[in-house]
Formats: sequence, structure tokens, C-alpha cells
Amino acid sequence: MDLSRIVWNHVSPASSSKSLPSIQSELQDNDILTPALRKKFFKMIHGRRFGALAKYYPCPVDESEIERMSREHRMLAFVYGGKNYAGPVEQVLRKSPHKQRRILDVGTGSGVWACEMADEFDHAEVIGVDAAPIQPEEMPRNCSFEIYDVTKGPQMLPYDDDYFDLIHIRSVHTGITNYASLMREARRVLRPGGLIILAEIDTTPMTANKEPISLDAAPGWCEFWAEYRRCLSSRGIDPTIPTRLRQSLQQAHGFSHIVAQEAALPIGFHPQPNVTLVTIGQLAWLNYDTLLHSLVPFLYERSGRTYEEIDELVSAAQSDLYNPIVPLYTCLHIVHATKSLT
Ligand SMILES: C[S@@+](CC[C@H](N)C(=O)[O-])C[C@H]1O[C@@H](n2cnc3c(N)ncnc32)[C@H](O)[C@@H]1O
Repeated sequence: MDLSRIVWNHVSPASSSKSLPSIQSELQDNDILTPALRKKFFKMIHGRRFGALAKYYPCPVDESEIERMSREHRMLAFVYGGKNYAGPVEQVLRKSPHKQRRILDVGTGSGVWACEMADEFDHAEVIGVDAAPIQPEEMPRNCSFEIYDVTKGPQMLPYDDDYFDLIHIRSVHTGITNYASLMREARRVLRPGGLIILAEIDTTPMTANKEPISLDAAPGWCEFWAEYRRCLSSRGIDPTIPTRLRQSLQQAHGFSHIVAQEAALPIGFHPQPNVTLVTIGQLAWLNYDTLLHSLVPFLYERSGRTYEEIDELVSAAQSDLYNPIVPLYTCLHIVHATKSLT
């Protein structure tokens, strides 16, 4: 990242105020997010800090989770071969004397993807949107962050039609109850010929061949993720979204050149044919070791199990993570498509 950055946070007043009326009067256009104001976007649940706006998102948004998001980002950069994207990104963002290039990152989390893209494409404006103000205070001059819940409001993405050249939505489906509407909204704010990139990690335990792991081989691991999917469904989140990204774009209509890719990601330290996969396995293992704990408050609230039972669920999943009988894998789904010209 370059050193010439300014320190500011831009809170989108229209969208923030619609989601959190109690702070409506305190937010003005281009408001600085003071520490006191920032606090109002959070609530504590079972000792973890959660976002107050995105009611459906199951993970905390505290330091441990921010670190996990950044680690997952690093892991995915290895999957993408050192890049931050798939598809003809350079082409849709090519400099034009007549047109300001714009990038939208929905569910930007730690903001690291948005910042790195702003550095790489320094002629483009990058907006990272999240329900929680957990982004860095120092960012490239061409990057800004807006805080609102994209599931709310008459417009999920409060921008003009055809506004963006690139829209990126990664690892966000667990906070979105109406993914189909989000796809239609993304189509509206993407310019004709612009690119959308979706990426989601599966919640079903897999083998290296992307087949479901048998219950006997990893009972604790399988039971944990089965319970997680049940809890997501009971909250109105579709846990099968990662496997249906292509369909989601097809059903939104108006997207063409849809390219879907899948990658089996190793979880753990088993031997791999190359060092990149070894690194991905290590980062994925660390990612899941943190994530199991992060999901405890959500599972406790949704599953009907006692705290002791959730503890046992986590211990059994850890046991398979730490001492696997079979190598554990998950599947990353990436889809990119362009908005049709007509
Ligand atoms: C797992 S993080 C992913 C971060 C980032 N996209 C990445 O890939 O590194 C998911 C982020 O989505 C945000 N999020 C979830 N539901 C949201 C919603 N309805 N509106 C806005 N942000 C949401 C969460 O606050 C969290 O920061």
C-alpha cells in the first residue's frame, strides 16, 4: 500500500440512519466516525462483540474475527495465484479520460480487499460497504467505507443505476436473507459491460474430490457443520448459496459470460503436491480453529442446545480438526459474469 493516504471514515448517512434510528440524529453527511459513535454499531453477546446492524450475520466482528478475515483473505490470495480477483478485471477497469472507474466491495469486513484494490487500481474509486465499522482508519486516498445493512431499505445498494464497473461480493452470504434481491440490485448498479465477482466457501465438509465426507470418518466435524447449516436455515439464510452462485446470477437476468470455478481447499497439514496447497491448508486450519469458537454464540442462540452441549459440539469438531482420520477439505466457489449490454 502507498504511504500517501488520508485518515477518514465516511459513513453513509441515508443508509445508516434507516437501519439504526437511535443514532440517526448524530450522523451527518460525511460524518467522522468518532469512537463514541462507532461503539453504537456494536453489541456484546456471550462475551463477543457483534454488529448491531446486520441481525442475521452469525459471526462476531471483534478483533479475533477481523484477524480471521484477514487470514482468510491471505489464504484466498494464494488460491487466486497472488491476485485478488478472477475474470477480466483489468479490462473493465482500464483507464478512460471520460469515465471515472468505480469498484464496490459488499461486506468488505476488514477492508483489506478494498484497500489493496485501491492501491492496484489507483485511478478507480473504491467503496467498501459493511454493516460494522471495523475497517482501518488509514486507507488509500481513493478508498472509502460506508456503513449500512445491505438487506435493509428500499434500495439494498443506495447508488445510481449503472454506477460501478466492478462489484465484488465475497464470504457474505451468511448475512444475507434475500440473496436473489441482492443479485438484482447488483445488476442495477453495475454498468452494462461491468463485472461482478462472487465467491463463497461451502459449509459442507468435503473430501479432496469434493464429495461429502462420510459421518464415520469425521463425526464431530460433520455434526458441527450440519448444526450450523440447520441454524442458518432456521434464521432464513440459505446455506446452499455457495453451490448456487451461477444460478443466482442466471435468475437475476441480465448477466452474460457467466464463468463458474470451484477449488477444493485443504484444511490442515497433510502432504500436498505443491507448497501453495500446503500453505492454503495451514491458513485454512488456522481459519477454522478460530471460526469454531466464533460460531458458539450463534449456535447457542439458535440450536436449542445447552451451553455444555455446544461446548461438546465444538470439542468434537476440534478433535477431527486436530487429529483427522481422513484429510479434511472444503470447496471454494467463484463466479464472475458481465452485465449484458442490452
Ligand atoms: C466473513 S466477512 C467477509 C469480509 C470480506 N468480504 C472478505 O472476503 O474478506 C463478512 C462481512 O460481511 C458483513 N456483512 C454480513 N451481512 C451484512 C449485511 N447484511 N450488510 C452489510 N454487511 C454485512 C459482516 O459485517 C462481515 O464484516
